[in-house]
Amino acid sequence: MSRHAAAPTSSFARYDSTPHGKESMNEIAAVIFDLDGVLTDTAEYHYRAWRRLADELGIPFDRAANEAFRGVGRDDCLRLLLGGRTVDDFDELATRKNRYYVESLSALTPDDILPGSTELLAELKAAGIPVAIGSASKNTHTVLRGLGLDDAFDAVIDGTLITCSKPDPEVFTKAAAALGVTPGECLVVEDATAGIEAGLAGGMWTLGIGPLSRVGAAHAVVPSLDGLTWARIRTLIDDGAWTLRRPAGADPDQHLETILTIGNGHIAVRGTTLEGRPGEQPASFMHGVWDDMPVSRSELANLPRWWGMDVWANGARLGADPSRIADAWWSLDLRTGTLTRTLTWTPDDATTIALVDERFCSLDQPHAAAVRLRLAVTRGDASVHVRSGLDVHVDNLGLRHWDLVDQSVDGLTVTTVTRTRATGIELAACAVLRPDESAIESCDADGQPAILASAILSEGQTWQATKYVALASSEERFDRRTRVAEIAATSARAGWDALAAVNRQAWATTWHASDVLIDGDPAAQIAVRYGLFQLLSVAPRLADSSIGAKTLSGFGYRHHIFWDTEIFMLPLFTFTQPDLAARMLGYRWHRLDGARRKAAASGAAGARFPWESAGTGDEVCPVWVENPADPANLIRIWTGDLEMHLGADVTYACLQYWRVTGDDAFLRDRGAEIICDTATFYATAAVLEDDGRYHFRNVIGPDEYHEHADDNAFTNAMAAWHLRQAPRVLAWLEETYPAAAADLRTRLGIDADREALWRTVADAMATPRERDGVTEQQEGFFDLTAVDFALARDPGRTLSMQQIYGLGPTAHTQNLKQPDVLMLAYLLPELFTPEQFLANYRYYDPRTDHELGSSLGPSISAIIACRAGDPTAALTHFRRAAQADLVDVRGNARDGIHGASAGGLWQAVVFGFAGLRIDDDGWHTAPALPPGWTRVAFSFLWRGERQDVVVRASDA
Ligand code: BGC
Ligand code: BGC
Repeated sequence: MSRHAAAPTSSFARYDSTPHGKESMNEIAAVIFDLDGVLTDTAEYHYRAWRRLADELGIPFDRAANEAFRGVGRDDCLRLLLGGRTVDDFDELATRKNRYYVESLSALTPDDILPGSTELLAELKAAGIPVAIGSASKNTHTVLRGLGLDDAFDAVIDGTLITCSKPDPEVFTKAAAALGVTPGECLVVEDATAGIEAGLAGGMWTLGIGPLSRVGAAHAVVPSLDGLTWARIRTLIDDGAWTLRRPAGADPDQHLETILTIGNGHIAVRGTTLEGRPGEQPASFMHGVWDDMPVSRSELANLPRWWGMDVWANGARLGADPSRIADAWWSLDLRTGTLTRTLTWTPDDATTIALVDERFCSLDQPHAAAVRLRLAVTRGDASVHVRSGLDVHVDNLGLRHWDLVDQSVDGLTVTTVTRTRATGIELAACAVLRPDESAIESCDADGQPAILASAILSEGQTWQATKYVALASSEERFDRRTRVAEIAATSARAGWDALAAVNRQAWATTWHASDVLIDGDPAAQIAVRYGLFQLLSVAPRLADSSIGAKTLSGFGYRHHIFWDTEIFMLPLFTFTQPDLAARMLGYRWHRLDGARRKAAASGAAGARFPWESAGTGDEVCPVWVENPADPANLIRIWTGDLEMHLGADVTYACLQYWRVTGDDAFLRDRGAEIICDTATFYATAAVLEDDGRYHFRNVIGPDEYHEHADDNAFTNAMAAWHLRQAPRVLAWLEETYPAAAADLRTRLGIDADREALWRTVADAMATPRERDGVTEQQEGFFDLTAVDFALARDPGRTLSMQQIYGLGPTAHTQNLKQPDVLMLAYLLPELFTPEQFLANYRYYDPRTDHELGSSLGPSISAIIACRAGDPTAALTHFRRAAQADLVDVRGNARDGIHGASAGGLWQAVVFGFAGLRIDDDGWHTAPALPPGWTRVAFSFLWRGERQDVVVRASDA
């Protein structure tokens, strides 16, 4: 047994201020400006030169066509202009256009500098922030001379110094190198789509100049530099590090609607549109509202549609004709969990309406949510109708869960009461509408009570309507009908701003506890915050529940709770929001009876947590599912029968929680019972064989490519560890709370024989073979067919190794969906010497399907790589985890967020790159920051006291 990292006491720093507020500003060390369209407008000169050439060639060309030329190099522009025509004199044409252009440039003077630029450059100079030009133009120096800015920049990278045009980041990365800063410390200022893409691809902060339709992907967007101070830019960029902005166009893969899910720890709603669109998968869920279903046995019922509004203007319905919507953008503010959409709508040729819709579920009031619609008529007149209500005709991918019990419309208030068909859970919903001056009608259609608000608006007029919603289920012990009516009415009286303010405050408190700051890698910063947001917004704050593998963001895995929660997501909560961790561990404790039923069904004593858990704690893993590749045949799912590491995973989480929080009451009242009864399951399920060892045969470890494994290293070692913890916990209980210990012994039937059995099985657990320091993943693994490394590491591979070989055959190879032995080394590092650890890393890491195997793997692989002293490899793994949801890598985003990956990202930063370790003496860090990361800051609670941690690249 040995540890991999000593405690370099010099390497941790605590600091007094919080890692929030002003000092959390992302460190921007340099600014790189594009030239055309940012500092000066030579676009007009270019346009004229292209136009002249186009006229000479007889090719139609206008300003609209010129828009596509922004930020694009000359040769590529010429190709665009020629549009497939072949010419013999390509180079001559390019030179000719340039001649026309350069001729016109002689007219440039300092008056051609765009407003605000001179002031900003002077401010940056005074602040000692180096500036560079990164422009595709080969005439950059001529332009700078004309503008009188030839000495204003510390570096100029222009079209003559680069080989690839934007969106390739070359021009910016070269500028960063010339300034001596890392890409992540740079801010790129750009007016072109390709330029923003280049900045993002280079891992830089980006400020877009121009309309959202052009530069909306930037971290911050402004119309121009006019009046913009450096302080203001910093604030905007800091906001950008909290905002996910995406075009709100077609979303055929239902990717955006998943990743734009918002929630408040009780209710969550997918980011589908207010008005509803064909092809969307709208859904909203509430913790605890389980209902039965075939195959997957139990799922959360999709709530009656409470967030919708139907909008008409001059008889046209919003969304009916997508071509009449332009400049549509989503923006998700992670600081407040508010999802906003802005768009321009042309309901008819004579009318234009600027529309904004916003929604949030209040983190302050778990039953409350609000939706606001704002309209501004910018052209023509509009007769507007807005229908707002509740709709109980919803389903879970075709399955209906609700019976209507009651509905009403009373003034501006609509109410529904529904009941789940199998479990009989009642849900009361109430929505109060507060429109600006309107004519009001009620529409009490069956299951769809609503209010219709109508207004006639003329050009320049604005109008808004806010919908205050409350939802409560019979899982809560109060009169839900009265309660929802009260909550919605109270919200309506308080108004949007007041509700938004308390929501913001609740989120601020949450972020204060859990935020992580990464300097030097904007993409990593946003990805980590995004992952935190998704988990913080679904961690149950009211219900006796836990977080499912796909959170509350889709129908994937039917909201079932896996080991993902305890091993991947819970550490974030244990370390930063222990109350929520305790609630989720409580979810397991309340379901010990389900686990006891499962243990009994497998012929053992004690408690065996199900592989997939829902309302009752019984196994809800499907047994047969349809094979998407071959719908005529069903696939037998073995995980529910054979995965048995859950008990040890939950025990691990309980003990981690106890060590970090020092919450003895938890261990006394709940943890000890979980740990002892699940230990009994392992002790009575293990089979003593002729070799004198206890075996677990026919199991599945975390690596699901190998079903029916004998003596899986992860399962056996975790179970043996668990069986050693149980007597320690009992001894602690006996010493600290003798009465509770006696009671537990009686209730669980723990006598001396039982305790002896725990110890015997732990000591005689079959241990896997070891070869050259490598632990064999399961019996016979070393003899399986070797991995085809050329195939496995082929960057063009689009199928998982299991998809390539097929479900059965993959098991005969050494390809891994996730690396069990390395997972074990992560959780129980003391089982490996440094040499064994490295031997296992070198053996198993390359055999893992990091790209398309399990989404759970990459974040842990990042930590493993850090511990193996390879932060560069760790960063590659980290980026894979960071993209699990933000990019639809596996093509399954529509099913929901990859919650384990989100939780793993936090662990990768905190336990991996910052190297936080706890032991009985306290905590220490052993940082291994990856290239580009200059600083990581986070906080956690150690035994109830806040610890602020900062590690810097220079500490490593
Ligand atoms: C993984 C499991 C995980 C489950 C739910 C599976 O694909 O192999 O480890 O628990 O997904 O996320
Ligand atoms: C997962 C299993 C899960 C099964 C049924 C598979 O894709 O890998 O962990 O139990 O689906 O939900």
